[in-house]
Amino acid sequence: MRPSILITKRLFPETVAFLAQHADVDYVQTADGLTSAELIARARGKQAIISQFTDSLSGEVIAQLKGLGMIAHVGVGYDNIDVAAASAHGILVSNTPGVLDDTTADFAFALLLAAARRVREADAFVRSGQWKRWSLELMIGHDIHHRTLGILGMGRIGQAVARRAAGFSMRVLYHNRTRVASDIASNIASWVSKEELLAESDFLSIHVPLSESTRHAIGEAELRRMKPTAILINTARGPVVDEAALARALSEHWIAAAGLDVFEREPEVHPARLACSNAVLAPHIGSASVDTRLKMTMMAAENALAALTGKRPPNLLNPAVWESWASRPEGAG
Ligand code: DGY
Repeated sequence: MRPSILITKRLFPETVAFLAQHADVDYVQTADGLTSAELIARARGKQAIISQFTDSLSGEVIAQLKGLGMIAHVGVGYDNIDVAAASAHGILVSNTPGVLDDTTADFAFALLLAAARRVREADAFVRSGQWKRWSLELMIGHDIHHRTLGILGMGRIGQAVARRAAGFSMRVLYHNRTRVASDIASNIASWVSKEELLAESDFLSIHVPLSESTRHAIGEAELRRMKPTAILINTARGPVVDEAALARALSEHWIAAAGLDVFEREPEVHPARLACSNAVLAPHIGSASVDTRLKMTMMAAENALAALTGKRPPNLLNPAVWESWASRPEGAG
């Protein structure tokens, strides 16, 4: 019998067609996706779901996904999924690491450049007809080259950002709970304490996943430690930064500017942030290139189909569940 898969919201046609070659697909074609109640109802009788960032797969929701074997998530961050609850219910969970590192690092740099050189303000200035003459101080911004870039969270994306900084002759510092052993990290960046990172960075780029230990890792105390000329970049997760504190930091000039792709309560944006001319804002599009978004969905599809055909999904977040599937008398299929 063909397995049954729920796709919780709009996906690329290529990915839907690929899944449909191997499984019966229940496809939610809307960009809004499903409410939790709708998701629970639609997941009934399915062996796998292809989930996205906006699906809230809390412990309460997962407890009601009876009979489900696999959540194949499109994305590297999975703070919307209670993986421990999934494990407790014997549900495999996978994500899509690696394929989006360079694309997200490119975008972190795009925000960094735009915030430092006031690209958003300059564009609005020209379009609104305010440009009357060239002058020395017009839209004067901050240099990037030879400045210090601080990276909070030196995983794959943090390292990709550090590699880009070499092209701008930047000094790169990073802070991670543990020093990163890889040669790449140690050749391109130096580990410092979080306090040093905050005090020394001209640009601070956040690349930690969201967890209880990183929620509000950048709050009032941290923002006050930064240079008044510093620029904060966040392409990781909104709640890593205390938005109310950041709004004050920007309006009272504790720091110079920010480039933000993620927010505490997406798609809501703190009203004070919308009013700040020294913030460049984007709607969570760090990994949004045509190639990368397609790769992410195909990777999720491959993870789901692997599990449903008895093969170990390559990007499992809870491999212990797979071990217990594989050791069942009937095997993993
Ligand atoms: C990711 O992959 O985590 C992106 O932020 C989209 O969810």
